[in-house]
Amino acid sequence: MTDKVRYELIDGMAVITIDNPPVNALGHAVRVGLLGAIERAAGDDAARATLILGSGKLFLGGADISEFGKPPKDPWLPEIIARLEGLSKPVVCAIQGAALGGGLEVALGCHYRLAMKGAKLGLPEVNLGIIPGAGGTQRMPRVTGVAAALELIPAGSTVSAERAVEIGLADRLATGDPREAGLAYARELIEQGAGPRPVGRMPCPEHGAQAFEEARALWSKKSSGEVARLASIDAVEAATRLAIEPGMAEERRIFDEMINTPQRAALIHAFFIERKTAKLPEIDGVAPRDIAKIGVIGGGTMGAGIATAALTRGLDVTLVERDDASAEKAAGTIARNLDGAVKRGKLAQAQRDAILKDTFRTATDYDALSGTDLVIEAVFEDMDVKKQVFAELDRVMKPGAVLATNTSYLDVNAIARSTSRPADVIGLHFFSPAHVMKLLEVVVADDTANDVTATAFALAKTMGKTAVRAGVCDGFIGNRILSAYRAAADRMVLAGASPYQVDRAVKAFGWPMGPYEMGDLAGLDIGYATRQRKAATRDPRDVVPTWADELYHLGRLGQKTGRGYYIYEAGQRGGKEDPEVEALVAKAREAQGVTPRDFSDEEIQRRYMAAMVNEAARVVDEGIARRPLDVDVTFLYGYGFPRWRGGPMHWADTVGLADLKADIERYAEEDPFFWQPAPLLQRLASENRTFASLNG
Ligand code: 3HC
Ligand code: NAI
Repeated sequence: MTDKVRYELIDGMAVITIDNPPVNALGHAVRVGLLGAIERAAGDDAARATLILGSGKLFLGGADISEFGKPPKDPWLPEIIARLEGLSKPVVCAIQGAALGGGLEVALGCHYRLAMKGAKLGLPEVNLGIIPGAGGTQRMPRVTGVAAALELIPAGSTVSAERAVEIGLADRLATGDPREAGLAYARELIEQGAGPRPVGRMPCPEHGAQAFEEARALWSKKSSGEVARLASIDAVEAATRLAIEPGMAEERRIFDEMINTPQRAALIHAFFIERKTAKLPEIDGVAPRDIAKIGVIGGGTMGAGIATAALTRGLDVTLVERDDASAEKAAGTIARNLDGAVKRGKLAQAQRDAILKDTFRTATDYDALSGTDLVIEAVFEDMDVKKQVFAELDRVMKPGAVLATNTSYLDVNAIARSTSRPADVIGLHFFSPAHVMKLLEVVVADDTANDVTATAFALAKTMGKTAVRAGVCDGFIGNRILSAYRAAADRMVLAGASPYQVDRAVKAFGWPMGPYEMGDLAGLDIGYATRQRKAATRDPRDVVPTWADELYHLGRLGQKTGRGYYIYEAGQRGGKEDPEVEALVAKAREAQGVTPRDFSDEEIQRRYMAAMVNEAARVVDEGIARRPLDVDVTFLYGYGFPRWRGGPMHWADTVGLADLKADIERYAEEDPFFWQPAPLLQRLASENRTFASLNG
């Protein structure tokens, strides 16, 4: 045994407790200890049954993810579970908090499973690019049947304790202390004369081929390039054909294949980096300010979404609009958003009613904000309007309140310095729709106090958002990089690629949408307004997508007008390509004397990604993003970057920075204005280093 696994004999029961904070991951020391404890129980004549427990708030969080990709060390989890299952006296476990992955596989190696109320059970391995590797795909269908296993395993989803009992994943629901409940259950089993009940020896319920075909069809469509989800279906199918030992061998074969994929590396990178964005020296140990009541100014697209997100997370919200009609409109949007949450089972009807009655109100007078702890401004993107709003806030907000702006591009320093309290001002850049999108850029201005930054990160956690620290510049992290790769796309279109080919190539890479579809969704008036804003300072060598300006002047603003780059017909999903747009592009080429050339999809992907990574390298070098991982998380959560590619910086590391730099130098031969390798990319490439080496 090790100090991570305890063995006690209590009331004639061998009690084995795994104690490896924070999540009782089944790392090497735990495996050694667990196997030792199981052997001890096997040889302990005084033990009438064995109880497996996890110490702390959860049972077992699964295999130790940080060990993946390193040489495996004995003993392996499948062997330990086989030994547990083979014990000659009953084995019971009591699951509190969570039994995930290898943790649930240990539970399935027990003969009887008690699920404590509030616990979540599941095999989330596919979310990490692997499949369950310690018998999960073989034992789960033996207790739940194939249909439930096919619903849960390829999705990597969890079920509640109640649902686990319903589908046979657990035997019984319990409340109270897991140790006491587990001991009581073990005693009851012994009194009933219950013997061992190894899941591996149970037959797998019969099932036709159709369920597997349906699952494959579903996940081929849904998983957009991820291999593990489909592979997990093959492993479940093996359980229906094979006895436990050959079934386990087949599971292991597939597991080993998945462990070696780049997707596994990317998904595990994503798992660890998203937990690092809040780890910043300036807020380490800094207490956030108390936030219970917030104000939102402006109830348009963003304000209404922000208010919804805050309300559903238990915050009290006062929303200020310009006039009664706008306030009423905003309240209507919020009520509809909450109704949507009720429909999707995310919110109880009674909660929705209580929110609208007790914790939400609108006002047209800024004095209504005097009791709030934090306010988020989401009015028109216009510096003069913002400054007027902040002058009002300066007047009404109590001392120590946090003043935040949701601006997309404007200078947060200038907004902060227009008030008498710049230390209390910060940018909170939400993404649209704000009650759905997980990303929050926390824009820290020059004078922002550290406890204000800490408060922003704490608020993000309360609101269920993933926060990334950004510095002040045009577009912060995400939108600044976006404008670089959008520009690369426009340059390719001008040079001969069609916007539709660009969209298709980008989607084939794994993005949910191409840049032109995205433009249609956001509204082409937004891009037009940005170009207008930048016109005065634009370098003459910049490519201006004059065809996009023409679309704007034709009133083709995208989805909202039924036409943009694509034609949107009522009742049709997606848009139709439009030869008129191709003609507008052809006209622009002619006007600029460009002879169009062909692009392969691969070249489009490469240039699109190279522009993104190159600008991201500048963003990191300038300290706008503290680390490459902040860029990766921004793109995973705010821009739909395919998670199985880990983020743009991780992608760049996998293709090699020297190769990427060489590509950019090649592009620079024909277009030296746009394509110059960023200094950081040059440095890392010459030192043969990766972006990951800067993540700390
Ligand atoms: N291995 C190693 N470290 C882990 C871990 C794991 N399985 N699970 C969590 N951690 C670490 C986190 O990185 C974090 O570290 P940090 O404090 O240094 O940042 C710390 O534990 C706490 O994690 P969270 O912040 O996520 O804590 P929460 O309380 O919010 O969530 C949790 C707990 C629900 C268990 C969540 O951590 C989680 O989902 N973990 C992953 C679960 C999982 O995917 N398990 C399957 C692993 S693969 C497997 O088991 C293969 C098997 O089939 C052979
Ligand atoms: P919007 O036009 O939908 O809403 C703005 C709202 O502010 C309107 O309802 C208007 O009545 C109200 N308003 C204007 N002046 C006001 C004042 N003085 N007092 C109170 N209310 C006032 O605009 P949207 O899209 O919600 O944008 C708001 C802010 O959020 C802008 O700064 C924008 O750049 C930013 N943003 C927008 C995103 C988007 O995708 N739409 C994404 C992220 C940030």
